[in-house]
Amino acid sequence: MVIVTGGTGYIGSHTCVELIGNGYEVVILDNLSNSEESVLDSIEEITGTRPQFFNVDIDNATQLAAVFEKIGSQAKSVIHFAAKKAVGESVKEPLAYYRNNLDSLMNILVEMERFQIPNLVFSSSCTVYGQPEVCPVTEATPRKEAESPYGNTKSMCEDIIRDTARAQSLKAISLRYFNPIGAHESAKIGELPVGIPNNLVPYVTQTAAGIRKELTIFGDDYDTEDGTCIRDFIHVVDLGKAHLQALRKLETETIRSSYDIFNIGTGKGSSVLELVNTFKQATGIAINFKVGPRRDGDITAVFADTTKANTVLNWKAELGLEEGLRSSWNWEQNYRSKKA
Ligand code: NAD
Ligand code: UD1
Repeated sequence: MVIVTGGTGYIGSHTCVELIGNGYEVVILDNLSNSEESVLDSIEEITGTRPQFFNVDIDNATQLAAVFEKIGSQAKSVIHFAAKKAVGESVKEPLAYYRNNLDSLMNILVEMERFQIPNLVFSSSCTVYGQPEVCPVTEATPRKEAESPYGNTKSMCEDIIRDTARAQSLKAISLRYFNPIGAHESAKIGELPVGIPNNLVPYVTQTAAGIRKELTIFGDDYDTEDGTCIRDFIHVVDLGKAHLQALRKLETETIRSSYDIFNIGTGKGSSVLELVNTFKQATGIAINFKVGPRRDGDITAVFADTTKANTVLNWKAELGLEEGLRSSWNWEQNYRSKKA
């Protein structure tokens, strides 16, 4: 059995689909603070299996302990997605972010030790690299001071896991995701941004759907080929598969403790303008856009060197930008039509 915290969320739900499809028994722990219970129906429709679900605040040690009393002794692994993730909100409410993201991880680690659960996969982010001196970045590229409390929680969580794996029986992997996009090909699960999206792809699909008038490209005077920023857009289905591979690696290791970090991206940088043009190729829809000023805190370019994940995890991104954007658009349309 694998316990998936945050399993009704965007990346968690796609990972649950991969896990179930590969024979894992999945138990989801989520407080539905940023997801909907109907995601369980969608997972069941896709896989034919409904995961067991506990509505629990992982930040609450007592509540979490009660859930682990029921399932802890059967679990072999934990994938820990649950976290608050809005960068701007974290700047305004730092304590809520430190409290939720750090306490949740520590509560999970305590329960893992109590029930002798050996394997942990953790959701980290390329945000820990800040603006790197050289791209692509490898796992050895030094981390930079975080731009936001959210980013800082990722760095701090990585350190908490590393130190815990040194002190107790724990095998752990942190996956540093680059920019996740896309949705499952069924269009039954996908990203659910709350309010006006901050991230590029949800803003693009909402503009295509006519919910937003136009996209603002934040700056075209960066030192890149077309002047817009460069990111590594990784399809969420590939991201889900990376978790499966990380879990397989941990579950076959015979040592008592270990800690490792992997970049999870495509290895290819794409510019914001390139993404807007690719959306038209993928869907036939031209996005209304204007160029506005730079957004505070944005970095010029970051993309991954994925050699380590390719060789050690035997994982490689298979889906490209066009597939990611087409599936995001299908999901947007399907979700809106169900809500209408
Ligand atoms: P998401 O918000 O869709 O999913 C997170 C889930 O965790 C939600 O279902 C939410 O309800 C749940 N949750 C939050 N706090 C909780 C708590 N205290 N108790 C129980 N459940 C709680 O986010 P996502 O995009 O799927 O991200 C998953 C993980 O990946 C997060 O840790 C995030 O920081 C990390 N990450 C995301 C991105 C991205 O761009 N989406 C990039 C890098 C890293
Ligand atoms: C954001 C988070 C980062 C997180 C990452 C992965 C911020 C500051 N950082 O990164 O912590 O790890 O997501 O999900 O939020 N853009 C526009 N117009 C828009 C929206 C975005 O031009 O309306 C541009 C941005 O300037 C950026 C690129 O698109 O150059 C990607 O932006 P976004 O999707 O927000 O992701 P990141 O900023 O890379």
